[in-house]
Amino acid sequence: MDAASMGADLERILYTEEQIRGRLDELAAEIATAYAGQPLVLVGVLKGAVMVMADLMRALPMSVPVDWMAVSSYGSGTKSSGVVRILKDLDTDITGTHVLIVEDIVDSGLTLSWIRANLESRSPLSVEICALLRKPAAAKVAIDVKWVGFDIPNEFVVGYGLDYDEAYRGLRQVGTLAAHVYT
Ligand code: PRP
Repeated sequence: MDAASMGADLERILYTEEQIRGRLDELAAEIATAYAGQPLVLVGVLKGAVMVMADLMRALPMSVPVDWMAVSSYGSGTKSSGVVRILKDLDTDITGTHVLIVEDIVDSGLTLSWIRANLESRSPLSVEICALLRKPAAAKVAIDVKWVGFDIPNEFVVGYGLDYDEAYRGLRQVGTLAAHVYT
């Protein structure tokens, strides 16, 4: 899906396909160097991370196992509590391997803080985070994101895996959503 298909629902494009791909290529090179010769698994967090994972893993110059988690806020409207429940856990044992969590966005940071703590309790060699987007102004908890694609303003963004009410995940670009869509 292209930006033109969104019509007036898209306010503006923040990052084009080429910009996203270029940045992920840079991050992949850094990640490859950081983990060279060491056991590593990429852990994607469904659903938003699908696009980032697809492009990041193809940008890596080595073969790396991939696994997925699905989590949900505990109850509805309690996302800010940071308490999440696991809807789908990893298929693999991460004991003794490095873990790189792959995410589309770090917003408040609460979800990633919880997931990171959960994975760290399983005796991996390390747990780090790679996120395409981060909203520094929305942070509610300090979280060390080792690899960040872009820091963005605290605006409602969609595309490249990010949704509004499950729509727009397939948008090739990352863009801001027009206010009339969600007000
Ligand atoms: C998004 C994103 C992160 C989380 C970040 O997922 O993929 O997991 O929110 O928010 P936080 O930093 O405030 O915790 P979402 O819950 O929208 O689910 P989705 O990936 O299925 O779209």
